[in-house]
Amino acid sequence: MELTREEKEMVEGKFGSGTALSMNLLTKLADVVGAERMIRPASSHIVSFGYQFYGFVANCRDLDEEMLDGVRRFRVLSTTNPKFFDTEDEKLIRRLGIDDATVEQIRASMTNNRFEALGAIPTYTCTPFFVHPTRKGESLAGAESVAIVMYNSIYGARVNRETTPTALAAAITGRTPEFGMHKAESRYAQLQVDLGEDLKPEEFTSSDYSALGYYVGRIAGDRNVVFSDLPRDMSMGKLKNLLAPLGVSGAVMLAHVVGVTPEAPTLEAALLGRKPEERIQVDKGNLEGVYQMLNTATEDKADLAVFGCPHAPLDEIIEIAELLDGKTIRDDALLLIATAEPIKLLADRMGITDAVEKSGGLIVSDMCPHIFLWKQRDPDPVADIGRGLNTVATDCTKCAHYLGAQGRNILYGSASKCISAVM
Ligand code: F3S
Repeated sequence: MELTREEKEMVEGKFGSGTALSMNLLTKLADVVGAERMIRPASSHIVSFGYQFYGFVANCRDLDEEMLDGVRRFRVLSTTNPKFFDTEDEKLIRRLGIDDATVEQIRASMTNNRFEALGAIPTYTCTPFFVHPTRKGESLAGAESVAIVMYNSIYGARVNRETTPTALAAAITGRTPEFGMHKAESRYAQLQVDLGEDLKPEEFTSSDYSALGYYVGRIAGDRNVVFSDLPRDMSMGKLKNLLAPLGVSGAVMLAHVVGVTPEAPTLEAALLGRKPEERIQVDKGNLEGVYQMLNTATEDKADLAVFGCPHAPLDEIIEIAELLDGKTIRDDALLLIATAEPIKLLADRMGITDAVEKSGGLIVSDMCPHIFLWKQRDPDPVADIGRGLNTVATDCTKCAHYLGAQGRNILYGSASKCISAVM
């Protein structure tokens, strides 16, 4: 592949061993995918693991250290994915009964500061575009499957489904190989999805949208999708719940929603004038199948209701607060709404946080509920944080998929059903 003089100097070590390692990693990736040149991404969304305790993370930290050797500043704006939880959140810590020593242990293990010192924007969210905007045609780098599919599908930005090290390498070098989603000709829809007459999307709950995304992702694999007949005015919360699971049950990077995705004002535009490789119709029974598959709880009672996986935009938080109005969460249960800190600040100012807390729930920032509730085999006391939270209610299939895989009982349903399960 063709490298500029500066890129060659990076490979040769002029900017330190970490930059050389990072550029070498990207050139190897470029060779594998057949990219002919590097481009400069406008930003990179990087995963900072924070405190986790499964084996591969230790290796990731070692790799991080090697890649960051000699790096004084990231070369592009970088945003950060969620971490374990906000260790300054006293309300959450008190509510969970985490002792001071354990909190200190977690704080000491956090590696996030390393990225912040290099200029990363401490967004700690998997929906970074809600706080750091992007635009149509802008090439980005990044890891985190749900962010990738939303960058491409909601904003028309161009980003491939990457890995943790390649996203970090992009932040360090300010480069990413040009291939796949970066090229307009790769972005046409291959799978067309129509809805059967027994489905009325204008009446869909967030969990219905999420079930639709989950069902389609399994069929799509890594192909681009187009939804031909969804309401153009669906809320951001519902759009997020539709798109996120496409990268979980499948490896979709781009789903055109006709009338919503900037590149898809029409079905023909999404298809780039071609015929789709495959066309499917989704019926009510298909969505019911997703509900049945993900629901493993044996009763309608949960220890935890969790919203905001992926992180909730403000409209979703307002909707949940309205559903909570006048209700009280059981003392032995918990309700969490995860979001980005700037969104939580707005919820604070609007009095929504107080209203949610009055019902017994909490709005939490920075947290990934999946990481937070990871059931560990490690005897580490931190692994015990999720003790007692055996049955989890959620309205998002990504959350249900991962927490179910951890061995938690899952109650998958609408936001109203999830709230009822913890009352
Ligand atoms: Fe985001 Fe963690 Fe869920 S990264 S999508 S909150 S699993």
